[in-house]
Amino acid sequence: AQPLPLSGKRAIVTSGPTHEPIDPVRYIANRSSGKQGHAIAAALAKLGADVTLVSGPVEIADPPGVRVVHVERAEEMLDAVVAALPSDIAVMVAAVADWRVATSAGEKIKKKPGEAPPPLQLAENPDILKTIGHHAARPKLVVGFAAETQDLEANARGKLKRKGADFIVANDVSPATGIMGGDRNSVKIVGNDGIEAWPDLSKQEVAERLADLIAKRLEALR
Ligand code: C5P
Repeated sequence: AQPLPLSGKRAIVTSGPTHEPIDPVRYIANRSSGKQGHAIAAALAKLGADVTLVSGPVEIADPPGVRVVHVERAEEMLDAVVAALPSDIAVMVAAVADWRVATSAGEKIKKKPGEAPPPLQLAENPDILKTIGHHAARPKLVVGFAAETQDLEANARGKLKRKGADFIVANDVSPATGIMGGDRNSVKIVGNDGIEAWPDLSKQEVAERLADLIAKRLEALR
């Protein structure tokens, strides 16, 4: 039998949102179902890769054939990703919260009649993709995502440079598209050599095409 195209390769995938606690019962978060990231982890595993999926809190099941590390906060997600290095491939799909609450309360913040709402002081979270894209043990292929509601291509090109990615999978997540939380996705692959628009596909099809593209690129790098 032919060896699978990614057998012997290691891959790290992030997926889902992060939850940044305000107190033990409240949090701030980004919207993310984890569907696209989980599908990518499964597709890479199907091509033979040894996959570590670092997932924020999601409602969907762990995909088959991958090692799953469950995390809550962005800082925990970064630690788990760095702990999974070295790797040949990194695909950062998670919708990481840009900010965390600077000092989250150890006890539930009580609402007191007549008192003003508590202020929320935010601190910047680490950028996981950017950290990995510039890491001393940078994977050979680093892929990021860009969910935008405007200026999709210009934003994606900016991210490619800034974050040290090899390519960015850009999708328009304007509410009218139904992509957020849905089962379909319409993406553009933005690389240093140009832009490729893919047709409207299921998230599983996007994952399979992306896994094929990753396998081809890795092969070309050898
Ligand atoms: O800058 P923006 O959040 O739009 O970039 C999106 C890309 O960066 C995605 O690949 C996302 O997973 C990654 N990202 C990250 N850590 C952050 C913010 C974004 O890995 N703190």
